[in-house]
Amino acid sequence: MCGIIGCIGEAAAQPFLIEGLGRLEYRGYDSAGVAIWNGKDIETRKTVGRVSRLAATLNDSPIDGDTGISHTRWATHGAVTEQNAHPHFDDSGRLALVHNGVLENHKALRDGLIERGHNFVSQTDTEVLAHLIGETFDISPVQNREALVAAVKSALGQALGTYGIGLLHADTGRFLIAARKGSPLIVGFGDGGQFLSSDVDAIADWVNEVVYLEDGDIAALDGDHFEVHRVSGEEAATPAPVRVEAPPVREGKGRYAHFMHKEIHEQPETLREAMKGRFDREGATATFSGLQRTNEELREWHRIVLTGCGTTYHAALAGESLIEAMARIPVECEYASEFRYRNVPLDSRTAVFAMSQSGETADTIAALRESKRKGAPTLGICNNVISTIARESEGGIGLRAGLEIGVAATKTFTSQVVALSMLGLLLGRIRDLPHAEGMDIIRGLESLPELVARVLELDEEISHIAAKYVSARNFLFMGRQANFPIALEGALKMKEISYIPASGYPSAELKHGVIALVNDETPSIFLAPQDGVYEKNLSNIEEVKARKGPVIAVGTEGDETLASLCDDVILLPQVPDFLAPVLNVIPLQLFAYHTAVALGCDVDKPKNLAKSVTVE
Ligand code: AGP
Repeated sequence: MCGIIGCIGEAAAQPFLIEGLGRLEYRGYDSAGVAIWNGKDIETRKTVGRVSRLAATLNDSPIDGDTGISHTRWATHGAVTEQNAHPHFDDSGRLALVHNGVLENHKALRDGLIERGHNFVSQTDTEVLAHLIGETFDISPVQNREALVAAVKSALGQALGTYGIGLLHADTGRFLIAARKGSPLIVGFGDGGQFLSSDVDAIADWVNEVVYLEDGDIAALDGDHFEVHRVSGEEAATPAPVRVEAPPVREGKGRYAHFMHKEIHEQPETLREAMKGRFDREGATATFSGLQRTNEELREWHRIVLTGCGTTYHAALAGESLIEAMARIPVECEYASEFRYRNVPLDSRTAVFAMSQSGETADTIAALRESKRKGAPTLGICNNVISTIARESEGGIGLRAGLEIGVAATKTFTSQVVALSMLGLLLGRIRDLPHAEGMDIIRGLESLPELVARVLELDEEISHIAAKYVSARNFLFMGRQANFPIALEGALKMKEISYIPASGYPSAELKHGVIALVNDETPSIFLAPQDGVYEKNLSNIEEVKARKGPVIAVGTEGDETLASLCDDVILLPQVPDFLAPVLNVIPLQLFAYHTAVALGCDVDKPKNLAKSVTVE
């Protein structure tokens, strides 16, 4: 993962590097560092922890210079220590390098370098690259910029795995090199200078145009000029820059203590946005201009594969039953992290939807590329519509949820489920879903924002319930049918932000093993709305109660049976079954949130996580 910012500025580099890094913290936040050319040497500062700590260090001890690179880390190789924080240096201490990605052959390369007398100070895979480049550059007869590019080419030619790198050398001064394979890297051009960044948003305030580097590109920048070379040695045309859209509005936390809480409460609005202008009442259907498919082409699809990771995978699971029910077309969900190793059967009539909030999840990008290779139509469902997935897919659906800053996804989950419901409606209406049922679905979806707003009014009540269970050391989440993915999602939210072990199961699986965990200290959260499997859920709740397990149930308003059976109930408005997943997840988001707050956890930046997982 990790985030990279580089800058050759008209003015001091340090403020750009720090501000840009802050915007990339969603990619990792365990340590951070900068290296700046001070006109003679390269000075560096590194700190363990957030970018704000690095900023404080630089405040006390600034570095003067207009050319620099910086990095915010999510540890892959080597513990979270100052030595392992980037930038890394070669033996001369004159070459500094930052890296996002994983070098798969770092061990063999490191062994060779050690044999040739190099000294390593970190346990990272990255330091290998610094030594490898430095070694070739140092023996070059003329140590100029061309020689540095050649050294980078030679080193990257030996590297297996993924990388986005930025580097500078004290002997080549106002000069930056960037290269990528697998990890994103962007070069930006603005009035204040030239920039490198892991994403566009981090530098969008300072640049007018950007170039998205391709895999195998090596870019060389000197503040005025920009040229591209290829690791393979083949000729490369310098790509034409593209104009940058206005960056998304960065709002603060407002009246909320955490972004996650704010984002949970934004859901009525984000759901409205997800649906705005996308219903065709005459045809009782949904429309997505971004899909770029005619109805005839959509009718060709005989199977759909939804792929994504984490919370997004849970949204896919919820969407699977919704689409199948509405469109009667088989849907399969695949973990994107497994996809390319599973040899998923695909063909030109199986549409693959690569789903991702960030659009930068490495596993999901790989699944998209694998699907393309196999000739399947590839579509994206992304919140970030200027992301790699959005760019590389043939068309797609934008979620329009706005920036999601809390690492735990909330508002984008409900937008994903709604987008999939609308996709089900569209595919159903060009097959055999009747007009009247299409209209019922539209009316139901349109009522969701108001219903979600009503559920959010239970926030305080849910915080009191959460307070009763903060000492629990394990939670079980249960749901049936489309509520099973919601149980999985509730458990994931709890684990991510409160660090309490939690697992989600289909309620009926209880007696096949999970019931062994039930005791008076293990609360079970049941999703038990008054739907077709209500009675079945009641039986499962009885089974837990018979073993003294505390039960918190999410049910339907006015359900006194549930209230008398369970220790605590959260009662929601009665809705048609296809709307229940979106409504039911809200109390689980709030329950996890209030539990984490009560435990004093860092809700927006949980330990060990990053918002966007850009390594395999
Ligand atoms: C969600 O709370 C997690 N942070 C994580 O599971 C996330 O959903 C997953 O990494 C996928 O991210 P994406 O949607 O940006 O691809």
